[in-house]
Amino acid sequence: MRHLHWSLLCMIFVASWMAFGVSPEASFGDTATAEHFMIATVHPLATDAGVEVLRAGGNAVDAAVTAALTLGVVDGENSGIGGGCLILIRSADGTFTAIDGRETAPAAAHRDMFVRDGKPQPTASQTGPLASGVPGAVAAYKLALDRCGTISLARALDPGAKAAAEGFVISESYAKAVAGERHHLHDFPGSRAVFFRGDDKPIAAGERLVQTDLANTYRQIGSHGIEWFYRGEFARTVSAWMKEHGGILTTADFAAYDAKLREPIRSTYRGYEVVGFPPPSSGGVHVAQVLNILENFDLREIAERDPLEATHLTAEAFKLAFADRAHWLGDSDFVSVPRGLTDKQYAKQLAGKIDGRWVVDVAAHGEPPNFAQDVFGRHTTHIAAADGAGNWVGITATVNTTFGSKVIVPGTGVILNNEMDDFSIFPGMPNAFGLVGAENNSVAAGKRPLSSMSPTIVLDSHGKPVLTVGAAGGPKIITQVLHVILRTIDYGQSLDLAVAGSRFHHQWRPNCVSYEKGLAEPIVDGLRTLGHNVEVVSSAGRTQAIALRPDGKLIGVADPRVSGKAAGE
Ligand code: GLY
Repeated sequence: MRHLHWSLLCMIFVASWMAFGVSPEASFGDTATAEHFMIATVHPLATDAGVEVLRAGGNAVDAAVTAALTLGVVDGENSGIGGGCLILIRSADGTFTAIDGRETAPAAAHRDMFVRDGKPQPTASQTGPLASGVPGAVAAYKLALDRCGTISLARALDPGAKAAAEGFVISESYAKAVAGERHHLHDFPGSRAVFFRGDDKPIAAGERLVQTDLANTYRQIGSHGIEWFYRGEFARTVSAWMKEHGGILTTADFAAYDAKLREPIRSTYRGYEVVGFPPPSSGGVHVAQVLNILENFDLREIAERDPLEATHLTAEAFKLAFADRAHWLGDSDFVSVPRGLTDKQYAKQLAGKIDGRWVVDVAAHGEPPNFAQDVFGRHTTHIAAADGAGNWVGITATVNTTFGSKVIVPGTGVILNNEMDDFSIFPGMPNAFGLVGAENNSVAAGKRPLSSMSPTIVLDSHGKPVLTVGAAGGPKIITQVLHVILRTIDYGQSLDLAVAGSRFHHQWRPNCVSYEKGLAEPIVDGLRTLGHNVEVVSSAGRTQAIALRPDGKLIGVADPRVSGKAAGE
Protein backbone atom coordinates (compact mmCIF):
# COMPACT_ATOMS: atom_id res chain seq x y z
CA MET A 1 0.00 0.00 0.00
CA ARG A 2 2.70 2.37 1.09
CA HIS A 3 4.66 1.51 -2.06
CA LEU A 4 1.76 2.29 -4.33
CA HIS A 5 1.29 5.57 -2.56
CA TRP A 6 4.99 6.35 -2.90
CA SER A 7 5.38 5.45 -6.52
CA LEU A 8 2.85 8.17 -7.29
CA LEU A 9 4.60 10.64 -5.03
CA CYS A 10 7.97 9.83 -6.59
CA MET A 11 6.72 10.74 -10.03
CA ILE A 12 5.57 14.07 -8.71
CA PHE A 13 8.53 14.94 -6.51
CA VAL A 14 11.56 13.56 -8.23
CA ALA A 15 10.97 15.47 -11.42
CA SER A 16 11.17 18.82 -9.73
CA TRP A 17 12.33 18.51 -6.15
CA MET A 18 14.40 15.30 -5.93
CA ALA A 19 14.39 13.98 -2.40
CA PHE A 20 14.58 17.21 -0.55
CA GLY A 21 12.07 19.56 -1.97
CA VAL A 22 12.31 23.07 -3.23
CA SER A 23 9.03 24.78 -2.69
CA PRO A 24 7.71 25.97 -6.04
CA GLU A 25 7.75 29.61 -4.94
CA ALA A 26 11.37 29.46 -3.74
CA SER A 27 13.78 31.94 -5.21
CA PHE A 28 17.21 30.49 -5.83
CA GLY A 29 19.32 33.04 -4.01
CA ASP A 30 21.61 35.61 -5.42
CA THR A 31 23.33 33.67 -8.15
CA ALA A 32 26.07 34.77 -10.51
CA THR A 33 28.17 33.11 -13.16
CA ALA A 34 31.60 34.25 -14.25
CA GLU A 35 34.80 33.13 -15.94
CA HIS A 36 37.61 34.69 -13.95
CA PHE A 37 36.62 35.00 -10.32
CA MET A 38 33.69 34.74 -7.97
CA ILE A 39 32.81 35.69 -4.42
CA ALA A 40 29.64 35.08 -2.40
CA THR A 41 28.80 36.55 1.01
CA VAL A 42 25.71 37.48 3.02
CA HIS A 43 26.10 41.23 2.38
CA PRO A 44 26.43 43.17 -0.90
CA LEU A 45 28.93 45.64 0.63
CA ALA A 46 31.24 42.78 1.62
CA THR A 47 30.91 41.08 -1.77
CA ASP A 48 31.61 44.40 -3.53
CA ALA A 49 34.71 44.97 -1.37
CA GLY A 50 35.98 41.52 -2.41
CA VAL A 51 35.24 42.14 -6.09
CA GLU A 52 37.19 45.41 -5.99
CA VAL A 53 40.25 43.58 -4.65
CA LEU A 54 39.98 40.91 -7.35
CA ARG A 55 39.57 43.52 -10.10
CA ALA A 56 42.73 45.21 -8.86
CA GLY A 57 44.66 41.94 -9.32
CA GLY A 58 44.29 40.40 -5.86
CA ASN A 59 43.54 36.72 -5.50
CA ALA A 60 40.64 34.83 -3.93
CA VAL A 61 42.32 34.81 -0.50
CA ASP A 62 42.76 38.61 -0.57
CA ALA A 63 39.12 39.00 -1.57
CA ALA A 64 37.76 36.59 1.03
CA VAL A 65 39.72 38.19 3.89
CA THR A 66 38.69 41.71 2.77
CA ALA A 67 35.05 40.59 2.60
CA ALA A 68 35.29 38.94 6.04
CA LEU A 69 36.67 42.13 7.59
CA THR A 70 33.93 44.18 5.90
CA LEU A 71 31.28 41.80 7.22
CA GLY A 72 32.64 42.48 10.72
CA VAL A 73 31.35 46.03 10.25
CA VAL A 74 28.17 45.65 8.19
CA ASP A 75 27.03 42.30 9.59
CA GLY A 76 28.49 42.54 13.09
CA GLU A 77 25.72 40.55 14.71
CA ASN A 78 27.16 37.44 13.07
CA SER A 79 30.93 37.87 12.87
CA GLY A 80 33.72 40.32 13.49
CA ILE A 81 37.17 40.89 14.88
CA GLY A 82 35.90 40.24 18.39
CA GLY A 83 35.26 36.65 17.30
CA GLY A 84 36.99 33.83 15.51
CA CYS A 85 37.10 32.00 12.20
CA LEU A 86 38.27 28.92 10.39
CA ILE A 87 39.86 29.35 6.96
CA LEU A 88 40.36 26.64 4.35
CA ILE A 89 42.43 27.52 1.28
CA ARG A 90 43.26 25.52 -1.81
CA SER A 91 46.08 27.44 -3.45
CA ALA A 92 46.71 27.58 -7.18
CA ASP A 93 49.64 25.14 -6.77
CA GLY A 94 47.26 22.52 -5.35
CA THR A 95 48.35 22.77 -1.71
CA PHE A 96 45.87 23.17 1.13
CA THR A 97 46.14 25.51 4.13
CA ALA A 98 43.79 25.24 7.12
CA ILE A 99 44.00 28.19 9.53
CA ASP A 100 42.45 27.88 12.97
CA GLY A 101 41.46 31.30 14.27
CA ARG A 102 39.15 29.83 16.89
CA GLU A 103 38.83 31.70 20.18
CA THR A 104 40.78 30.41 23.19
CA ALA A 105 39.64 30.09 26.81
CA PRO A 106 41.49 32.52 29.12
CA ALA A 107 44.21 31.15 31.44
CA ALA A 108 41.93 31.58 34.44
CA ALA A 109 39.15 29.51 32.84
CA HIS A 110 38.40 26.14 34.41
CA ARG A 111 36.05 23.21 34.08
CA ASP A 112 33.41 24.40 36.55
CA MET A 113 33.56 28.13 35.90
CA PHE A 114 29.92 28.15 34.77
CA VAL A 115 28.65 26.02 37.66
CA ARG A 116 27.26 27.58 40.86
CA ASP A 117 25.99 25.48 43.75
CA GLY A 118 26.17 22.42 41.51
CA LYS A 119 23.98 24.00 38.82
CA PRO A 120 25.02 25.14 35.32
CA GLN A 121 24.81 28.89 34.57
CA PRO A 122 24.32 29.19 30.81
CA THR A 123 23.53 32.90 31.10
CA ALA A 124 27.12 33.55 32.13
CA SER A 125 28.57 31.53 29.24
CA GLN A 126 26.31 33.36 26.77
CA THR A 127 26.20 37.00 27.90
CA GLY A 128 28.61 39.40 29.57
CA PRO A 129 32.28 39.39 30.58
CA LEU A 130 32.78 35.67 31.22
CA ALA A 131 31.33 34.61 27.87
CA SER A 132 34.30 35.61 25.69
CA GLY A 133 37.36 33.69 24.64
CA VAL A 134 40.41 35.47 23.18
CA PRO A 135 39.33 36.58 19.69
CA GLY A 136 41.22 34.81 16.90
CA ALA A 137 39.94 36.35 13.67
CA VAL A 138 42.53 39.14 13.32
CA ALA A 139 45.48 36.76 13.74
CA ALA A 140 43.93 34.25 11.32
CA TYR A 141 43.27 36.85 8.59
CA LYS A 142 46.85 38.10 8.89
CA LEU A 143 48.22 34.56 8.65
CA ALA A 144 46.03 33.82 5.60
CA LEU A 145 47.27 36.94 3.79
CA ASP A 146 50.91 36.28 4.72
CA ARG A 147 50.85 32.67 3.52
CA CYS A 148 48.46 32.70 0.61
CA GLY A 149 47.49 36.29 -0.22
CA THR A 150 49.10 39.18 -2.04
CA ILE A 151 47.76 42.29 -0.26
CA SER A 152 48.54 43.80 3.15
CA LEU A 153 46.25 43.52 6.16
CA ALA A 154 45.89 47.32 6.04
CA ARG A 155 44.48 47.09 2.50
CA ALA A 156 42.11 44.32 3.56
CA LEU A 157 40.88 46.40 6.52
CA ASP A 158 40.28 49.49 4.42
CA PRO A 159 36.72 48.93 3.08
CA GLY A 160 35.54 47.90 6.55
CA ALA A 161 37.15 50.96 8.14
CA LYS A 162 35.42 53.15 5.54
CA ALA A 163 32.03 51.52 6.08
CA ALA A 164 32.41 51.95 9.84
CA ALA A 165 33.42 55.62 9.56
CA GLU A 166 30.88 56.66 6.93
CA GLY A 167 28.13 54.35 8.11
CA PHE A 168 25.79 52.13 6.15
CA VAL A 169 22.02 51.77 6.00
CA ILE A 170 20.89 48.93 8.18
CA SER A 171 18.57 46.27 6.83
CA GLU A 172 15.35 44.85 8.25
CA SER A 173 17.20 41.75 9.41
CA TYR A 174 19.96 43.73 11.15
CA ALA A 175 17.36 45.92 12.90
CA LYS A 176 15.48 42.78 13.90
CA ALA A 177 18.67 41.31 15.41
CA VAL A 178 19.23 44.51 17.43
CA ALA A 179 15.59 44.55 18.56
CA GLY A 180 15.78 40.87 19.55
CA GLU A 181 18.81 41.47 21.77
CA ARG A 182 17.92 45.02 22.89
CA HIS A 183 17.70 44.21 26.60
CA HIS A 184 21.17 42.68 26.80
CA LEU A 185 22.71 45.26 24.44
CA HIS A 186 21.23 48.00 26.58
CA ASP A 187 22.89 46.55 29.68
CA PHE A 188 26.39 47.34 28.41
CA PRO A 189 27.16 51.07 27.94
CA GLY A 190 29.60 50.44 25.04
CA SER A 191 26.95 48.48 23.15
CA ARG A 192 24.17 50.91 24.11
CA ALA A 193 26.17 53.79 22.63
CA VAL A 194 26.40 52.00 19.25
CA PHE A 195 22.97 50.41 18.89
CA PHE A 196 20.63 52.94 20.53
CA ARG A 197 19.50 56.39 19.49
CA GLY A 198 19.28 58.47 22.62
CA ASP A 199 19.10 56.16 25.56
CA ASP A 200 16.24 53.85 24.75
CA LYS A 201 15.50 53.60 21.06
CA PRO A 202 17.19 50.73 19.24
CA ILE A 203 18.45 51.61 15.77
CA ALA A 204 15.75 50.94 13.17
CA ALA A 205 15.79 49.61 9.60
CA GLY A 206 16.71 52.30 7.10
CA GLU A 207 18.80 54.28 9.59
CA ARG A 208 22.51 54.81 9.09
CA LEU A 209 24.82 53.05 11.51
CA VAL A 210 28.12 54.88 12.01
CA GLN A 211 30.72 53.06 14.16
CA THR A 212 33.44 55.62 14.85
CA ASP A 213 35.27 53.57 17.49
CA LEU A 214 35.27 50.49 15.30
CA ALA A 215 36.63 52.55 12.39
CA ASN A 216 39.44 53.73 14.66
CA THR A 217 40.18 50.16 15.81
CA TYR A 218 40.40 49.02 12.16
CA ARG A 219 42.70 51.96 11.31
CA GLN A 220 44.93 51.30 14.30
CA ILE A 221 45.34 47.65 13.35
CA GLY A 222 46.04 48.77 9.78
CA SER A 223 48.73 51.21 10.93
CA HIS A 224 50.36 49.26 13.78
CA GLY A 225 49.65 45.65 12.83
CA ILE A 226 48.09 42.89 14.88
CA GLU A 227 50.49 43.68 17.74
CA TRP A 228 48.25 46.65 18.53
CA PHE A 229 45.34 44.24 18.96
CA TYR A 230 47.08 41.38 20.82
CA ARG A 231 49.84 43.16 22.73
CA GLY A 232 48.92 46.84 22.57
CA GLU A 233 46.18 49.26 23.38
CA PHE A 234 43.27 47.03 22.39
CA ALA A 235 44.33 44.20 24.70
CA ARG A 236 44.94 46.66 27.55
CA THR A 237 41.57 48.38 27.15
CA VAL A 238 39.63 45.11 27.03
CA SER A 239 41.41 43.49 29.97
CA ALA A 240 41.03 46.63 32.14
CA TRP A 241 37.27 46.56 31.46
CA MET A 242 37.15 42.84 32.18
CA LYS A 243 38.89 43.28 35.51
CA GLU A 244 36.47 45.99 36.52
CA HIS A 245 33.38 43.95 35.51
CA GLY A 246 34.20 40.45 36.79
CA GLY A 247 35.72 39.07 33.57
CA ILE A 248 38.92 37.00 33.42
CA LEU A 249 40.43 37.94 30.02
CA THR A 250 43.86 39.47 30.60
CA THR A 251 46.58 41.12 28.52
CA ALA A 252 48.57 37.88 28.97
CA ASP A 253 45.72 35.92 27.33
CA PHE A 254 45.78 38.26 24.34
CA ALA A 255 49.58 38.10 24.13
CA ALA A 256 49.51 34.28 24.18
CA TYR A 257 47.09 33.99 21.25
CA ASP A 258 48.24 32.39 18.01
CA ALA A 259 46.31 31.39 14.93
CA LYS A 260 47.23 27.74 14.29
CA LEU A 261 47.89 25.82 11.12
CA ARG A 262 45.96 22.53 11.04
CA GLU A 263 46.10 19.47 8.84
CA PRO A 264 42.89 19.37 6.77
CA ILE A 265 40.78 16.22 6.78
CA ARG A 266 40.84 14.55 3.38
CA SER A 267 38.25 11.91 2.55
CA THR A 268 36.57 10.59 -0.55
CA TYR A 269 32.97 10.40 -1.69
CA ARG A 270 31.88 8.63 -4.85
CA GLY A 271 35.12 9.45 -6.68
CA TYR A 272 35.43 13.02 -5.38
CA GLU A 273 37.87 14.19 -2.73
CA VAL A 274 36.33 16.15 0.13
CA VAL A 275 38.66 18.41 2.12
CA GLY A 276 37.38 19.69 5.45
CA PHE A 277 38.42 21.38 8.67
CA PRO A 278 39.76 19.25 11.55
CA PRO A 279 39.30 19.75 15.33
CA PRO A 280 38.70 22.06 17.12
CA SER A 281 35.93 21.98 14.56
CA SER A 282 33.65 18.98 14.38
CA GLY A 283 32.74 20.02 10.84
CA GLY A 284 35.33 18.18 8.77
CA VAL A 285 35.08 14.99 10.83
CA HIS A 286 31.30 14.70 10.59
CA VAL A 287 30.93 15.85 6.99
CA ALA A 288 33.34 13.02 6.12
CA GLN A 289 31.63 10.57 8.48
CA VAL A 290 28.11 11.19 7.15
CA LEU A 291 29.30 10.92 3.54
CA ASN A 292 31.10 7.67 4.40
CA ILE A 293 27.90 6.28 5.94
CA LEU A 294 25.75 7.35 2.98
CA GLU A 295 28.23 5.95 0.46
CA ASN A 296 26.90 2.55 1.55
CA PHE A 297 23.54 3.38 -0.04
CA ASP A 298 22.68 4.12 -3.66
CA LEU A 299 21.04 7.39 -2.69
CA ARG A 300 20.11 8.47 -6.16
CA GLU A 301 18.34 5.22 -6.95
CA ILE A 302 16.65 5.24 -3.55
CA ALA A 303 15.52 8.86 -3.94
CA GLU A 304 14.03 8.10 -7.36
CA ARG A 305 12.17 5.12 -5.96
CA ASP A 306 11.26 6.53 -2.53
CA PRO A 307 12.14 10.12 -1.55
CA LEU A 308 11.03 9.45 2.01
CA GLU A 309 13.51 6.61 2.40
CA ALA A 310 16.36 8.81 1.12
CA THR A 311 15.37 11.55 3.57
CA HIS A 312 15.10 9.06 6.43
CA LEU A 313 18.50 7.44 5.68
CA THR A 314 20.14 10.85 5.56
CA ALA A 315 18.55 11.96 8.84
CA GLU A 316 19.65 8.71 10.49
CA ALA A 317 23.22 9.23 9.28
CA PHE A 318 23.13 12.78 10.73
CA LYS A 319 21.89 11.37 14.05
CA LEU A 320 24.60 8.72 14.32
CA ALA A 321 27.33 11.25 13.55
CA PHE A 322 26.03 13.78 16.10
CA ALA A 323 25.90 11.07 18.79
CA ASP A 324 29.64 10.58 18.19
CA ARG A 325 30.20 14.33 18.15
CA ALA A 326 28.72 14.73 21.62
CA HIS A 327 31.12 12.18 23.08
CA TRP A 328 34.35 12.29 21.12
CA LEU A 329 34.83 15.81 19.82
CA GLY A 330 36.83 18.58 21.45
CA ASP A 331 40.06 20.52 20.98
CA SER A 332 42.53 17.86 19.82
CA ASP A 333 45.40 19.81 21.42
CA PHE A 334 43.85 18.87 24.78
CA VAL A 335 41.93 15.65 24.32
CA SER A 336 42.06 12.54 22.14
CA VAL A 337 39.77 12.74 19.13
CA PRO A 338 39.84 9.40 17.25
CA ARG A 339 40.77 9.52 13.58
CA GLY A 340 38.70 6.35 13.18
CA LEU A 341 35.57 8.52 13.13
CA THR A 342 36.27 9.07 9.44
CA ASP A 343 37.15 5.42 8.77
CA LYS A 344 35.20 3.78 5.91
CA GLN A 345 34.82 0.44 7.76
CA TYR A 346 33.48 2.19 10.85
CA ALA A 347 31.01 4.04 8.62
CA LYS A 348 29.94 0.72 7.12
CA GLN A 349 29.30 -0.60 10.60
CA LEU A 350 27.16 2.47 11.41
CA ALA A 351 25.35 2.20 8.07
CA GLY A 352 24.48 -1.39 9.01
CA LYS A 353 22.54 -0.08 12.01
CA ILE A 354 20.22 1.99 9.83
CA ASP A 355 16.85 0.44 9.07
CA GLY A 356 15.14 1.90 6.02
CA ARG A 357 11.70 1.32 7.56
CA TRP A 358 12.03 2.56 11.12
CA VAL A 359 14.11 4.90 13.30
CA VAL A 360 17.08 3.35 15.05
CA ASP A 361 17.32 4.10 18.75
CA VAL A 362 20.79 5.60 19.25
CA ALA A 363 21.33 5.59 23.00
CA ALA A 364 25.00 6.58 22.93
CA HIS A 365 28.06 7.19 20.77
CA GLY A 366 29.82 4.46 18.78
CA GLU A 367 33.38 3.22 19.13
CA PRO A 368 35.54 3.99 16.10
CA PRO A 369 38.56 1.76 15.41
CA ASN A 370 41.69 2.40 17.46
CA PHE A 371 39.94 5.16 19.37
CA ALA A 372 42.52 5.23 22.13
CA GLN A 373 45.65 5.32 19.93
CA ASP A 374 44.92 6.83 16.53
CA VAL A 375 43.88 10.35 17.36
CA PHE A 376 44.03 13.76 15.76
CA GLY A 377 47.27 15.56 16.57
CA ARG A 378 44.96 17.22 17.66
CA HIS A 379 25.71 32.77 14.39
CA THR A 380 28.32 33.04 12.11
CA THR A 381 28.82 33.75 8.43
CA HIS A 382 30.47 32.06 5.49
CA ILE A 383 32.44 33.58 2.64
CA ALA A 384 33.24 31.62 -0.53
CA ALA A 385 35.74 32.86 -3.10
CA ALA A 386 37.53 31.43 -6.13
CA ASP A 387 39.74 32.81 -8.88
CA GLY A 388 40.88 31.77 -12.34
CA ALA A 389 44.38 30.92 -11.11
CA GLY A 390 42.96 28.07 -9.03
CA ASN A 391 42.83 29.61 -5.55
CA TRP A 392 39.66 28.43 -3.80
CA VAL A 393 38.74 29.67 -0.34
CA GLY A 394 36.17 29.13 2.39
CA ILE A 395 36.11 31.30 5.50
CA THR A 396 33.56 30.67 8.22
CA ALA A 397 33.66 33.42 10.84
CA THR A 398 31.65 34.01 13.98
CA VAL A 399 31.06 35.81 17.25
CA ASN A 400 28.83 32.78 18.09
CA THR A 401 25.20 33.75 18.79
CA THR A 402 23.66 37.07 17.66
CA PHE A 403 25.95 39.93 18.85
CA GLY A 404 28.08 37.38 20.77
CA SER A 405 28.44 38.30 24.45
CA LYS A 406 26.53 41.58 23.71
CA VAL A 407 29.56 43.41 25.11
CA ILE A 408 31.31 46.24 23.32
CA VAL A 409 34.08 47.47 25.58
CA PRO A 410 33.77 51.28 25.45
CA GLY A 411 36.21 52.91 23.06
CA THR A 412 36.78 49.80 20.93
CA GLY A 413 33.58 49.41 18.89
CA VAL A 414 34.27 45.65 18.83
CA ILE A 415 31.52 43.16 19.68
CA LEU A 416 33.12 40.43 21.79
CA ASN A 417 32.23 36.80 21.16
CA ASN A 418 30.40 34.41 23.49
CA GLU A 419 32.29 31.38 22.31
CA MET A 420 32.73 30.01 25.86
CA ASP A 421 29.17 28.70 25.38
CA ASP A 422 30.47 26.32 22.71
CA PHE A 423 32.21 24.39 25.49
CA SER A 424 30.18 21.80 27.33
CA ILE A 425 29.76 23.80 30.55
CA PHE A 426 28.12 20.95 32.49
CA PRO A 427 27.47 17.28 31.67
CA GLY A 428 24.22 16.94 29.74
CA MET A 429 23.52 20.71 29.72
CA PRO A 430 22.59 21.79 26.19
CA ASN A 431 24.29 24.96 24.89
CA ALA A 432 22.59 27.77 22.96
CA PHE A 433 22.27 25.42 19.95
CA GLY A 434 20.82 22.56 22.02
CA LEU A 435 24.08 20.63 21.67
CA VAL A 436 25.24 18.43 24.50
CA GLY A 437 28.87 17.50 25.00
CA ALA A 438 31.08 15.47 27.25
CA GLU A 439 34.44 15.65 28.99
CA ASN A 440 36.37 16.09 25.73
CA ASN A 441 34.72 19.50 25.29
CA SER A 442 34.81 20.68 28.91
CA VAL A 443 36.27 24.12 29.70
CA ALA A 444 40.02 24.36 30.31
CA ALA A 445 42.54 27.19 30.27
CA GLY A 446 43.93 27.79 26.79
CA LYS A 447 41.57 25.25 25.19
CA ARG A 448 39.49 26.05 22.11
CA PRO A 449 35.75 25.36 22.27
CA LEU A 450 34.37 22.79 19.85
CA SER A 451 32.98 24.30 16.65
CA SER A 452 30.69 23.08 13.90
CA MET A 453 32.16 25.45 11.32
CA SER A 454 32.81 23.46 8.16
CA PRO A 455 34.57 25.29 5.35
CA THR A 456 34.80 22.51 2.75
CA ILE A 457 36.40 22.18 -0.67
CA VAL A 458 35.59 19.32 -3.06
CA LEU A 459 37.96 18.15 -5.81
CA ASP A 460 37.09 16.02 -8.82
CA SER A 461 38.92 12.80 -9.69
CA HIS A 462 41.66 14.86 -11.41
CA GLY A 463 42.27 16.96 -8.31
CA LYS A 464 40.54 20.01 -9.79
CA PRO A 465 38.50 22.07 -7.31
CA VAL A 466 34.79 21.92 -8.21
CA LEU A 467 33.05 23.21 -5.09
CA THR A 468 33.71 25.42 -2.08
CA VAL A 469 30.89 25.45 0.45
CA GLY A 470 30.26 26.51 4.02
CA ALA A 471 27.47 27.86 6.16
CA ALA A 472 26.26 29.63 9.28
CA GLY A 473 23.86 28.12 11.79
CA GLY A 474 25.65 26.30 14.63
CA PRO A 475 25.31 22.52 14.25
CA LYS A 476 23.15 23.05 11.16
CA ILE A 477 26.35 24.17 9.43
CA ILE A 478 27.40 20.53 9.12
CA THR A 479 24.10 19.35 7.66
CA GLN A 480 23.86 22.32 5.28
CA VAL A 481 27.28 21.50 3.83
CA LEU A 482 26.18 17.88 3.50
CA HIS A 483 22.94 18.85 1.76
CA VAL A 484 24.87 20.82 -0.87
CA ILE A 485 27.32 17.96 -1.46
CA LEU A 486 24.57 15.33 -1.64
CA ARG A 487 22.31 17.44 -3.84
CA THR A 488 25.02 18.30 -6.33
CA ILE A 489 26.88 14.96 -6.41
CA ASP A 490 24.09 12.42 -5.81
CA TYR A 491 21.06 14.23 -7.17
CA GLY A 492 22.73 16.24 -9.93
CA GLN A 493 21.13 19.51 -8.87
CA SER A 494 22.55 22.85 -9.94
CA LEU A 495 24.19 24.81 -7.13
CA ASP A 496 21.41 27.41 -6.86
CA LEU A 497 18.79 24.66 -6.41
CA ALA A 498 21.00 22.80 -3.98
CA VAL A 499 21.35 25.87 -1.74
CA ALA A 500 17.72 26.96 -2.05
CA GLY A 501 16.16 23.56 -1.38
CA SER A 502 14.41 23.07 1.96
CA ARG A 503 16.71 21.51 4.52
CA PHE A 504 16.32 19.06 7.33
CA HIS A 505 18.61 18.43 10.26
CA HIS A 506 19.15 15.88 13.04
CA GLN A 507 21.70 16.38 15.82
CA TRP A 508 20.90 13.30 17.95
CA ARG A 509 19.88 15.40 20.99
CA PRO A 510 17.18 16.65 20.90
CA ASN A 511 15.99 13.44 19.22
CA CYS A 512 14.10 15.06 16.40
CA VAL A 513 14.28 15.98 12.73
CA SER A 514 13.98 19.74 12.32
CA TYR A 515 12.94 20.81 8.85
CA GLU A 516 12.29 23.98 6.91
CA LYS A 517 8.76 24.83 5.85
CA GLY A 518 9.20 24.04 2.16
CA LEU A 519 10.00 20.36 2.76
CA ALA A 520 7.26 18.38 1.01
CA GLU A 521 4.41 17.57 3.41
CA PRO A 522 4.25 13.87 2.43
CA ILE A 523 7.93 13.57 3.38
CA VAL A 524 7.25 15.17 6.75
CA ASP A 525 4.23 12.90 7.35
CA GLY A 526 6.28 9.93 6.20
CA LEU A 527 9.07 10.72 8.66
CA ARG A 528 6.46 10.67 11.44
CA THR A 529 5.21 7.27 10.34
CA LEU A 530 8.79 5.95 10.41
CA GLY A 531 9.01 6.93 14.08
CA HIS A 532 10.76 10.30 13.88
CA ASN A 533 9.86 13.26 16.02
CA VAL A 534 9.67 16.27 13.72
CA GLU A 535 9.65 20.02 14.24
CA VAL A 536 9.40 22.84 11.74
CA VAL A 537 11.99 25.64 11.91
CA SER A 538 11.75 28.97 10.12
CA SER A 539 15.24 28.68 8.65
CA ALA A 540 17.98 26.08 8.91
CA GLY A 541 20.99 28.37 8.44
CA ARG A 542 22.65 30.22 5.59
CA THR A 543 24.96 28.73 2.98
CA GLN A 544 27.36 30.36 0.54
CA ALA A 545 29.00 28.29 -2.19
CA ILE A 546 30.83 28.41 -5.50
CA ALA A 547 31.01 25.55 -8.01
CA LEU A 548 32.80 24.93 -11.26
CA ARG A 549 30.23 24.14 -13.92
CA PRO A 550 30.86 21.61 -16.69
CA ASP A 551 31.16 24.54 -19.15
CA GLY A 552 34.16 25.82 -17.16
CA LYS A 553 32.31 28.80 -15.68
CA LEU A 554 32.11 29.54 -11.98
CA ILE A 555 28.67 29.73 -10.40
CA GLY A 556 28.40 31.54 -7.08
CA VAL A 557 25.35 31.41 -4.81
CA ALA A 558 24.47 33.51 -1.79
CA ASP A 559 21.71 31.89 0.25
CA PRO A 560 18.21 33.18 -0.67
CA ARG A 561 17.25 33.07 3.02
CA VAL A 562 19.15 36.36 3.49
CA SER A 563 19.86 39.20 1.10
CA GLY A 564 23.47 38.37 0.28
CA LYS A 565 25.27 38.73 -3.02
CA ALA A 566 27.33 36.60 -5.34
CA ALA A 567 29.37 38.42 -7.95
CA GLY A 568 32.17 37.69 -10.36
CA GLU A 569 33.64 38.52 -13.73
N1 GLY B 1 29.84 29.18 17.25
C1 GLY B 1 29.31 28.22 16.37
C2 GLY B 1 30.31 27.19 15.99
O1 GLY B 1 31.50 27.46 15.99
O2 GLY B 1 29.93 26.08 15.74
